[in-house]
Amino acid sequence: NENLVVLGIETSCDDTAAAVVTSLLVSLKLLLLIAMVKFSAKLSLLREFLNALKNSNFEKLSKLYYFCVPTLCGLSSNLEVPYIIKAELLARYGGVAPKMAEEAHALVIDQVVQEALDKANLTEKDLTAVAVTIGPGLSLCLRIGVRKARSIAGSHNLPLVGVHHMEAHTLVARLVERELQFPFMALLVSGGHNLLILARDLGDYIQLGTTIDDAIGEAYDKTAKWLGLDLRRSGGPAVEELAQEGDAKSVKFKVPMKQHKDCNFSYAGLKTQVRLAIEAKRINAGISLASSSDEERQARADIAASFQRVAVLHLEEKCERAIEWGLNIEPSINHLVVSGGVASNKYVRARLDEVVKRKGLKLVCPPPSLCTDNGVMVAWTGLEHFRLGRFDPPPPAHEPEDAV
Ligand code: KG4
Ligand code: ZN
Repeated sequence: NENLVVLGIETSCDDTAAAVVTSLLVSLKLLLLIAMVKFSAKLSLLREFLNALKNSNFEKLSKLYYFCVPTLCGLSSNLEVPYIIKAELLARYGGVAPKMAEEAHALVIDQVVQEALDKANLTEKDLTAVAVTIGPGLSLCLRIGVRKARSIAGSHNLPLVGVHHMEAHTLVARLVERELQFPFMALLVSGGHNLLILARDLGDYIQLGTTIDDAIGEAYDKTAKWLGLDLRRSGGPAVEELAQEGDAKSVKFKVPMKQHKDCNFSYAGLKTQVRLAIEAKRINAGISLASSSDEERQARADIAASFQRVAVLHLEEKCERAIEWGLNIEPSINHLVVSGGVASNKYVRARLDEVVKRKGLKLVCPPPSLCTDNGVMVAWTGLEHFRLGRFDPPPPAHEPEDAV
């Protein structure tokens, strides 16, 4: 039972993240040391964006918008990006552009991994294994992480563990809550996924429900965009914050999939309902929230609150059913794990806590830094598999560039 030191690399979407997780056996207790570094792919293109802004290069601006504006607003409040430019570019451009994300990952991957090692006071030579996300995700982006992982593992003759992104979101809960034993239930809610899982054992999962169209995070992001919220962060937190000022019963949205007695989700219809409500109220998303009238601010807050209530009600209903299904298959289930970006929402946590209590279970929700995409979840999942002998042999030390 030697000490394990695992490096985890995550590049599946628009965050470049790395972490080192070390398990030490100290007086029969497993002690974990964690060092994590996360770099937003948005940041590395910031300089180019500023140059384009200076030169009024609109073509370049619209390409770089997605990465740079949210970061820019967050970084420096006195650096004014004219609101009208933001609105215009946002209308033309939204979502993650794989090619640009790939470039951003490639720019920062070495630095991110080095910083994670430095933080842990370790070098590549001290590692036991290298874990890396191999999917699901944007293939161009995944390759950057995989190439880095193979190069480190190859140079130091280290085993490699390929990690499933959604398994990592699930299992990181076991790092946070050491009592969490299999079997347990998990709800994974992010920008791209909406899953209900029965985790029976390590590597043994039953999918009880998924989304038939959009994930809840996507609905949050679009709502934020259509409400013209300042994209200082991603859409979810902006909607959550504005919803606190709103009346959640003021706009009557329909709860999706009520008539379906299954555990699946659908958020496309709710998105449309939100868009129509925004149009009906004649909200002008081109005017920033800060400079809008009190009346308009209230109208936006009411929509945000009403959307959030119904979006989460949908989660509550399906979770409740999934727990019943899960308990039928595995009566010894004690926990529901809620993870993924949307799990950092306080309203989501509070409402699901009620559901879980009614069913006699305990809620386990990792802290926001481990709910959104991160390297710790990958390193930890790698460590769990490695302990059971599930890993690949070291890759060749010098493989050709295009081997991955
Ligand atoms: O897990 P994640 O970082 O990346 C994916 O794998 O998608 O999740 C990102 C998603 C985004 O849609 C973001 O808007 C949402 O999680 N999110 C939130 C909150 N924080 C992040 N949604 C609602 N409320 C939040 N506080
Ligand atoms: Zn994720």
